[in-house]
Amino acid sequence: MSEKIRVLINEEKVDARIREIAAKISKEYEGREIHMICVLKGGVFFMCELAKRITVPVTLDFMSVSSYGDDTKSSGVVKIVKDLDQPLEGKDVLVVEDIIDSGRTLSYLMKVLRARKPNSIHLCTLLDKPDRRVVQDVQVDHCCFEIPDEFVVGYGLDYAQRYRNLPYIGVVEFE
Ligand code: PRP
Ligand code: MN
Ligand code: MG
Repeated sequence: MSEKIRVLINEEKVDARIREIAAKISKEYEGREIHMICVLKGGVFFMCELAKRITVPVTLDFMSVSSYGDDTKSSGVVKIVKDLDQPLEGKDVLVVEDIIDSGRTLSYLMKVLRARKPNSIHLCTLLDKPDRRVVQDVQVDHCCFEIPDEFVVGYGLDYAQRYRNLPYIGVVEFE
């Protein structure tokens, strides 16, 4: 089976929107430092582009999580594969994701991170698919685009690990 990629949000639109969000975030955090946490692997492209355009001081850390089989996934349990290098206590944390889908990953992760006593913690996502939400307690503080329920790739998002490096958001079309 082969697939084609149709452009959903082109590179110019993604870049312009990231600049807009970065300006908004820079204003909100004026006089403070943002500790950005990238959720690997999908969050990495968005985090880099966002961080480059933020004008307050930024520090970075990375975390990798994976869902167990379907059983555990429905219970919302996520396994931390790579934990953060630095503690969060007293920091102004901004979690950066590529997409919020069912909400299970971030619902779990935000709870875990909140327990580490940051000064504040907010969530910034490139994409949000609100129609797919299963877990309702995820508060999205900054979102670049709300999208319909289509299989999207690019800008960090993969299909079987491929297409993450596309500089735009595309929809996978199977033929
Ligand atoms: C994807 C995506 C989010 C998560 C969203 O990651 O990058 O992290 O799923 O899904 P949810 O809201 O239903 O939990 P994935 O597990 O595919 O790992 P990846 O980032 O390495 O691609
Ligand atoms: Mn991910
Ligand atoms: Mg993935």
